[in-house]
Amino acid sequence: MLVNSNELFNAALKGGYAIPAYNVNNLEWIKFVLEACQEDNSPVILAVTPKSIQYFGGYKVVYNVVNSLISELNINIPVVLHLDHAKDFDSCKKAIDAGFTSVMIDASLKTFEQNVDITNKVMDYAKKRGVNVEAELGVIKTDGYGINDRAYYSDLEDSKNFVIQTGIDSFAPSIGNVHGFYKENDNLDFDLLGAICKEVKIPLVLHGGSNLDENKLKAAVFCGVVKVNFNTDLMHAWSLAVREYLKKNVDVYDPRKIILSGEDALKEVIHKKNCMIGSKNRK
Ligand code: 13P
Repeated sequence: MLVNSNELFNAALKGGYAIPAYNVNNLEWIKFVLEACQEDNSPVILAVTPKSIQYFGGYKVVYNVVNSLISELNINIPVVLHLDHAKDFDSCKKAIDAGFTSVMIDASLKTFEQNVDITNKVMDYAKKRGVNVEAELGVIKTDGYGINDRAYYSDLEDSKNFVIQTGIDSFAPSIGNVHGFYKENDNLDFDLLGAICKEVKIPLVLHGGSNLDENKLKAAVFCGVVKVNFNTDLMHAWSLAVREYLKKNVDVYDPRKIILSGEDALKEVIHKKNCMIGSKNRK
């Protein structure tokens, strides 16, 4: 069933666990993620970026594929369909109009005031339609570098003001986390994360969940994180398995066999992450 994330976040906060958000890039990945999470009895957030939506062929395509798979596969765990890292109001509007139940407006590269303005515009549209809004302050880099530069970290006072001025449902701070592989030692600032949690008093989101060990993920959950985003580890595991399969089966050209050869590896990562963040058996 497609749901809004509020209830899931409240339950996660009370239960001391987080909900996984897995990035999906095609129909098969949606199927794999839904099946793996159903097996674990774990609620799940399917995260789709605007680039992936373009790859799928449009917002409505994504919504219809997700909705049809939920029904055809008899998926009975709560599922959130989330727009990940939208940079503008129009993308959020299109997702909301198509039936997404959650959107992230990421105006973190703009000034504080511009970020507040655009987030408020999205809030206004989303709230009238029962859709949840996540926003980011500080910069979560994508190249694995820059994590030691405090200029990228969220400022505590700004975080508090940002949440007050926007009323967002969940907040994605920058605490040294990066998307992709960490190219230096990660330098997650859990003191800052805990302080932000105390100040903003709303559910927190950890981006860049890949290649963080269980202790770090558990520490983040302890500090108030209720949603952890995973993408790179899934892509990495799937592509390694497919590469291996193709090496051993040079004559195979059926795309179904090729795509399916990464299924087990992908699902294994999902099962591990669900255990690490405690979402297993929390349906
Ligand atoms: P990773 O690719 O590092 O797992 O980050 C995913 C993410 O945060 C998506 O928004």
